[in-house]
Amino acid sequence: MEPSNCEQAHQTHRQPEEALSHDPEVLRVALIRERAERRRADGLAKMHMDVVKLALDLLVREPDIESFFGGLTKNMVEESDSHVCAVWLIDEAQQRCDMWMAYVVDRLYTQNSADWKSLTFPHEVLGSHLFAYAPGWSQTVEYQNDDPRLPDAVREFHRRAGVHGMVIAPLILGTRTLGWIKLSSRGIPECEEAQWWRVVLIEAIARQAALALHHSRLAGQNRLEERRKTILEERNRLARDIHDNLAQGFAAILMQLQAAQRESCRLAPAVAVKLETAVDLARMHMIEARRSVGTLRPNVSDGEDVAHALKRIADLARRTTSVPIEVSVDELPRFGDGVEREIIGIAQEALTNAVRHSRARRITLRASTARSIGFRLSVADDGRGIARERPDAGFGMTSMQERAERIGASLTIVTAPRSGTEVVLAWEPSSLPTQVHVAS
Ligand SMILES: Nc1ncnc2c1ncn2[C@@H]1O[C@H](COP(=O)(O)OP(=O)(O)OP(=O)(O)O)[C@@H](O)[C@H]1O
Ligand SMILES: [Mg+2]
Repeated sequence: MEPSNCEQAHQTHRQPEEALSHDPEVLRVALIRERAERRRADGLAKMHMDVVKLALDLLVREPDIESFFGGLTKNMVEESDSHVCAVWLIDEAQQRCDMWMAYVVDRLYTQNSADWKSLTFPHEVLGSHLFAYAPGWSQTVEYQNDDPRLPDAVREFHRRAGVHGMVIAPLILGTRTLGWIKLSSRGIPECEEAQWWRVVLIEAIARQAALALHHSRLAGQNRLEERRKTILEERNRLARDIHDNLAQGFAAILMQLQAAQRESCRLAPAVAVKLETAVDLARMHMIEARRSVGTLRPNVSDGEDVAHALKRIADLARRTTSVPIEVSVDELPRFGDGVEREIIGIAQEALTNAVRHSRARRITLRASTARSIGFRLSVADDGRGIARERPDAGFGMTSMQERAERIGASLTIVTAPRSGTEVVLAWEPSSLPTQVHVAS
């Protein structure tokens, strides 16, 4: 990927009158220019082919996207006579932009490498600048060392490190910008051609990089979806097992015990009490087993929206308790199958916990959406609160947390002794991680 000769470098527009001129000197200059332009076009075509070949070669050789970018940035530094090539990526929530990796002189630094923190470049400052600088979202930008467009911290760093200039190209996919790739050089380019070469090279590399990044993200999403499906299948299998064996088993025992109660009218009082206790135990465990099935398999019927499903699970819960369950559910939009399933799963577990553990006088289930805060689900009770030593007792809490994480929602559980418990799920694209507040 060699730049062509500096003498034939700079491209100017050919004057139409040149072609008509009979002056041999004018014609000679026009011919030289013509040849230089052809050479540049040939060089460009060859360079693009080389970059595609390099990208394909790296895709085959490197197992993951990080190593692929590592190879690209290394090549970039070596081919363009620069000393740093770094990559910034925009996060999934489209809120910020962070440096992802940097190839400096002869070493690759990634966010996971131990010496990442040793990089003194103000990358957070440049990340904010890239994210805010509108022209850079669609075009390559060339910066001088003391460029007034750059933040002070970057200019100061350039002065100290003797950086002559930077070229930054966006990683564009269709109309989306995924991030930026930056090339910094210490030396002054020996001629305009060398700088031109850097720009076209970084643009060609950026094109391949954006494509590879997109494909890797798609593959990642597919893997996640596969995992989600496997987990669902496993939950279904467990639910089926519990339903077919435990719940049905308890139902059969209950029937036998009740038949025994009916048929033997003259039982000793002590035996009658024991039989009554056995009936109660069998009934209780049958209900618990059915609840577990419901929690494992939220059972969002095809076409059933969240509002209907919430009302349905509240109705089901009412059949297992005498505690009043108040339901207030707004008309809700569709959120997509995967998200709805997790929301219902969380509501079901929170409601089951309230019924089973809270000893409340009242339980309320609320669901609403607002443009500013997104979807909000609250399951509250006025019971005894979650005991400090109990929150890890079962699978329910963990399962609610995992479900929330899967859809990128925030789950907050507020509880206080004798003041009840409220489980709040807030779902919007940029949610916070789970927080548990235990008030004393
Ligand atoms: N609303 C609530 N009020 C009082 N205590 C609660 C409430 N929710 C949960 N807890 C307490 O927290 C513990 C953990 O709840 P979790 O849902 O993880 O497990 P579980 O309900 O005991 O079992 P599982 O959900 O696996 O069937 C419960 O055992 C209970 O002691
Ligand atoms: Mg539970």
